[in-house]
Amino acid sequence: MPTKRILITGGAGFVGCNAARFFRARNWTVTVLDNLSRQGADKNLAWLRDHTSFDFEHVDVRDRANVDRVVSEQRYDAVLHLAAQVAVTTSVTDPGTDFAINAMGTFHVLDAVRCHCPEAVFINASTNKVYGKIAAAEYALRDGRYAYVNRPFGISETEPLDFLSPYGCSKGAADQYALDFARIYQIPATSFRQSCIYGPRQFGVEDQGWVAWFAIASLLGRDITIFGDGRQVRDVLHVEDLVRAYEAAIRAPDKVAAQAFNVGGGPNSMLSLLDLIGMLEERLQLRIPLRWDDWRPGDQRVYVSDIRKLETTLGWKPEIDANSGIAQLIDWVARNRAAF
Ligand SMILES: NC(=O)c1ccc[n+]([C@@H]2O[C@H](COP(=O)([O-])OP(=O)(O)OC[C@H]3O[C@@H](n4cnc5c(N)ncnc54)[C@H](O)[C@@H]3O)[C@@H](O)[C@H]2O)c1
Repeated sequence: MPTKRILITGGAGFVGCNAARFFRARNWTVTVLDNLSRQGADKNLAWLRDHTSFDFEHVDVRDRANVDRVVSEQRYDAVLHLAAQVAVTTSVTDPGTDFAINAMGTFHVLDAVRCHCPEAVFINASTNKVYGKIAAAEYALRDGRYAYVNRPFGISETEPLDFLSPYGCSKGAADQYALDFARIYQIPATSFRQSCIYGPRQFGVEDQGWVAWFAIASLLGRDITIFGDGRQVRDVLHVEDLVRAYEAAIRAPDKVAAQAFNVGGGPNSMLSLLDLIGMLEERLQLRIPLRWDDWRPGDQRVYVSDIRKLETTLGWKPEIDANSGIAQLIDWVARNRAAF
């Protein structure tokens, strides 16, 4: 049987390199497309080269001609679109670049798929930020952290879209384009509205990837600033669980086409910022000094994904609990101190 082919844009990023390794291990032929703009992307690419075989295309998704060339060169069975400008803060200071990469860049990849391999399953890595502030979701302080009062299962896909920040708008546009290309052109495209993903090979910085950033900063003695009161809560999902969900979606194009899914750890994997600091202090046996600053604009007190749609549609469930997943992340940072 011929091997299946997957194109992973942003494949040298955190999620991308984990996905590339996962699909290669299952005997897929993998093409990684990345412009290597993200800090650490070159290291992830070198790590991938040390561990597996794949084709690499040093291409920017803003470059339509080269995106077309890459997409038309192979008959892809799946396209995993991860390439993005990923920080809300950067999107506020440079909304034009954010739009060009996230909105236009996604359009380039999606439209190239429409032209050259419309039967490929297209997974668009979207974000929970498409729901904005979610004013209707009430929250209260419970046991030292914020919790929903009227969303016991978390935020579902029926929540109204309310793009907030240039990043929310550009990713939201990409999210809707993917779903609409599925409706209009019958491309099996889906948007995965991801919550907080963590795991090895995440070069987290203060502006993005907070779980990894806290682990890196704690181990390297860098300052950690808590914006707000530290009691804000997110659901966290290990990258391996996310990649398994991608695979499940690729296996079931009819079930996922034109559908959006909220993807995260759900109510069983919630962490406040201070919970994570406590876990790090315990594991590393040290006291982590904290700096405090005001809430950042738009920072939600709580965001937890309702993952029941994905669970029932694909029979998928998160398998890695936050304690063991974070322990694994800390070990990875400790083993790779020189990389940060
Ligand atoms: N990690 C999370 O917690 C999270 C949460 C929600 C959504 N997402 C989405 O998942 C995707 C992957 O996130 P990640 O954490 O792996 O981010 P990442 O920054 O580690 O990876 C993104 C990759 O895209 C590449 N890239 C950036 N601009 C590009 C361009 N113009 N052309 C080609 N490549 C480009 C970067 O070099 C990087 O390797 C992104 O679309 C992100 O918005 C991530």
